[in-house]
Amino acid sequence: MKIKTVDLTRIYHVGASKIIAVNKSNFEVSKSTFTAIVGPSGSGKSTLLNLIGLNDYPTAGKILIDNTDTSLLSGRERRKIRLFRIGFVFQTFNLLATLSVLENVELPMALAGKPSKEQRETAVRLLGNVGLGGRIHHRPKELSVGEMQRVAIARALANDPEVIIADEPTGELDSKTAEEIIGLLFDINRNRKTTVIVATHDEKLVKVAETLYTIRDGKLKLKH
Ligand SMILES: Nc1ncnc2c1ncn2[C@@H]1O[C@H](COP(=O)(O)OP(=O)(O)OP(=O)(O)O)[C@@H](O)[C@H]1O
Ligand SMILES: [Mg+2]
Repeated sequence: MKIKTVDLTRIYHVGASKIIAVNKSNFEVSKSTFTAIVGPSGSGKSTLLNLIGLNDYPTAGKILIDNTDTSLLSGRERRKIRLFRIGFVFQTFNLLATLSVLENVELPMALAGKPSKEQRETAVRLLGNVGLGGRIHHRPKELSVGEMQRVAIARALANDPEVIIADEPTGELDSKTAEEIIGLLFDINRNRKTTVIVATHDEKLVKVAETLYTIRDGKLKLKH
């Protein structure tokens, strides 16, 4: 999937104050690449990822997906893209506490109308791939943070998306677990040819990325 933004802007209004979280930013990723976005806390990384992941709407500017202006899409078309073509790994995981690990990974496939046997087989396989084969009946709160991160990645892969967008995927992890998650994202990019976009502070994750952007006060800059 090709994603491009043109002068993308997102302004939050809180009371009388106005926060320009993303400011006229131009971003571009091509198919099957690995891109990192680096910037200090509050610089606009999550806001930017939520916009390109179609979880939010810009205040100004455009988001193009495969050259289609996403402002022209209906709510239904946006939901379809989010469900089938984009796998989103949230900064806070957003796992459902009342569901088991297995059910969390099955959920996007259930929403996509896949048969329940296929949901189960795919979820078991994906959880095995992320090293959680022995934890499938646990609830999220019974897992370590690194394990929750893996469930979130397995869930993001459930409908075999073209792009994975991960918001600080190693943010809460010790360095060994962080390296395992970086390896996992690298393998997904290499082997499945999935486009990977991460927001991160992690130097090791930055090294894996072929394209690097920095963001500061909502202003995005291409480094390489
Ligand atoms: N829903 C919101 N309403 C109002 N202001 C917001 C909202 N979400 C974010 N902001 C503000 O927008 C700016 C960018 O926030 P954002 O969460 O995108 O930063 P970030 O780079 O992801 O930070 P971090 O590294 O801490 O996750 C910050 O100043 C933040 O306070
Ligand atoms: Mg953030």
